[in-house]
Amino acid sequence: MAGTGGDRLGSPGTGVLVTGGGSGIGRETALALAEVGRPVAIWDLDAAGAEETAALCRDRHGVTADWSVVDVADTSAIEAAVPETETALGSLGGFVHAAGVSGPMALDFIDDELWDLTLNVNLRAGVMISRVLIEPFRRAGPGSAIVLISSIEGLYGSTFLTAYCASKGGVLGVMRSIAQRLASEGFRVNAVCPGAVATPMLAPAFELPGFRQQLEERTPLQRVSTPDEIARPIRFLLSDEASFITGAHLTIDGGLTAVTAI
Ligand SMILES: NC(=O)c1ccc[n+]([C@@H]2O[C@H](COP(=O)([O-])OP(=O)(O)OC[C@H]3O[C@@H](n4cnc5c(N)ncnc54)[C@H](O)[C@@H]3O)[C@@H](O)[C@H]2O)c1
Repeated sequence: MAGTGGDRLGSPGTGVLVTGGGSGIGRETALALAEVGRPVAIWDLDAAGAEETAALCRDRHGVTADWSVVDVADTSAIEAAVPETETALGSLGGFVHAAGVSGPMALDFIDDELWDLTLNVNLRAGVMISRVLIEPFRRAGPGSAIVLISSIEGLYGSTFLTAYCASKGGVLGVMRSIAQRLASEGFRVNAVCPGAVATPMLAPAFELPGFRQQLEERTPLQRVSTPDEIARPIRFLLSDEASFITGAHLTIDGGLTAVTAI
C-alpha cells in the first residue's frame, strides 16, 4: 500500500517501473528511488545496462531490483511485461518513462521510419504503459504516481529536432490528459522538462566543435546538468511530498529558458 514501507523523503514503499533505466537519467532515477528504499524495475533494450543498474540498486541500497529487456515501442511486449514486473516487485505504484531516442532530424531529413520510431518510443510508449498500469496502481493504492520525461524541446522549437520536438510537446499534452483521467483514483501524473544533461544521448552533440561551450555560456548556471540533478526532482514528484502536484511540468534547465534573446 502507498504510504507504507520507505519513509525517507515521504516516499511510498511501492515498486517503481523505470523505462530506459539502463543509462543516463533513467539509471540515476532508479538509483535515487532505491536510495529511499523503493523497489525498482528497469526496462531497457540494452540488457547489459539494465542488469548493471539493477545490480547497483541492490548492492548500494539493498532494495529489490528487477530488470527486463522490453522494447517500449512494442505495445504487446508492454502488456506481457507489466504483470511479470508487478510480481517481481510485489507492487507497482510508480512509473517513470525515461526511455527515449533523439538524433538529428531536421525537416529536410525526416522520414517515416525516423518519425515513427521517435513518436512511438518517446510518446506512445508512455501512454500505453500508463494504460496497462491502471490495475496495478489500483492494487498499490492512492499515492501512485507517474513522471513522464519531456524536454525544453517540448516547450520551444529546435531546427534540428523536428520529430523530437513533436514527441516532447506531445508528452506534455498526454501528461495533462492522463492526469485528469487518473486524479479521481488518487493517482498523480507530472512531467519534467530537462535542458541539456550529460548522458550518452547528448554525447554526439558534445563532440561538435563549440557546442557545449556555447550552451554553457547561454545557461545562467553556466553548465549542463548531471543526470542526478534530474533524478532527484523526479523522485520528489513520485513521493508523497508532491501530494497536491498533478498535471504539472517542472523545467530543470539551469535557467536556460528563463533568459530572453537580448
Ligand atoms: N540528455 C539530455 O540532454 C536530455 C534532455 C531532455 C530530455 N531528455 C530525455 O530524457 C530521457 C532519458 O534520456 P537520456 O539522456 O538518459 O538518454 P540515454 O540515451 O542515456 O538513455 C535512454 C535509454 O533509453 C533506452 N531505450 C531507447 N529506446 C528504447 C526502447 N524502444 N525500449 C526500451 N528502452 C529504450 C536506451 O537503450 C537507453 O538506455 C529521454 O526521454 C530523453 O529524450 C534528455
